[in-house]
Amino acid sequence: MKRKTFLRAGIATLSVAAMAALSACSGSSSSESADNGSGSDTIAIGFSQVGAESGWRAANTKDIQDTLTEENGFKLSFSDAQQKQENQIQALRSYIAQGVDVLAFSPVVETGWDAVLQEAKNANIPVILTDRAVDTADDSLYESFIGSDFVEEGQRAGQWVADNFKDEELKVVELQGTTGSAPAIDRKEGFEKAIAGTDIKVVDSQTGDFTRAGGKQVMEGFLNSHDDIDLVFAHNDDMGLGAIEAIEAAGKKPGEDIKIVTIDAVKDGMQALADGKINYIVECNPLLGADLAEVAKKVVAGESVEKRIVVEDAAFTQEEAEKALPDRKY
Ligand code: AHR
Repeated sequence: MKRKTFLRAGIATLSVAAMAALSACSGSSSSESADNGSGSDTIAIGFSQVGAESGWRAANTKDIQDTLTEENGFKLSFSDAQQKQENQIQALRSYIAQGVDVLAFSPVVETGWDAVLQEAKNANIPVILTDRAVDTADDSLYESFIGSDFVEEGQRAGQWVADNFKDEELKVVELQGTTGSAPAIDRKEGFEKAIAGTDIKVVDSQTGDFTRAGGKQVMEGFLNSHDDIDLVFAHNDDMGLGAIEAIEAAGKKPGEDIKIVTIDAVKDGMQALADGKINYIVECNPLLGADLAEVAKKVVAGESVEKRIVVEDAAFTQEEAEKALPDRKY
């Protein structure tokens, strides 16, 4: 491949510093990119993951690593950014310096990516966004986005609440995902849209950073400052599971005294739903590896790809969770 040959010559002096920068991101691993120029069809792909903040993220990472294998035609370099944008930017720069064929990442926050995306474009390395989108005025900076419609997820969660508690005055607290991230922004927007015009009010809303510990801590604060919470809307299962711990520690029954609605539908969340501690879960499908592999193969082959590939999500009541649990993949 001409692009790669040109790039390798150009980046030889950069790679040591860039590799050092990448290994500074804890949990990261890297490997030499495959040499397509020598006749191999292997695609060298650099993937920068958000972190390991949730059960959803663990399932997403496993699926990507299980799919982008050598047998499937990939040489995957994977790094974990520990929920820090600067780590992701470092990792992307290192992959650019290595001259990978494709870059893929799930951006921790929506904004602040234009400079590094422009660097990838200048190096002729196509970028695929998975799971989370970026906020940019120039959509030529990436080839494709593969993931869920987060606004719709929030809207489905809110619609369930509106349908089940219509005509009731309901006090809701919201556990938001990572501040500035696409799912936190969009799920909030969707939920608010669905409950607009009802007597269901969000009385407090704070970030729990998509983690179980964060959800527990923020919920403890909510329980201290509000004695009449009716429902928790958690932007993911893990924060909802943390909220359950806080509610039980406060001597109340999650799912009964305080209702809980979450997003993700990972196994732990589905178990809590089947156990009656969560009331409703909107799914966010983490199995994006197959779509990523297909899109990566197409962009490397110079074929056109869809700009936005939205994966399908289900939603579960308590009864539906009980039925779905035995076959749940993640
Ligand atoms: O971007 C997807 C979200 O990120 C998931 O809903 C959440 O669990 C994860 O951390």
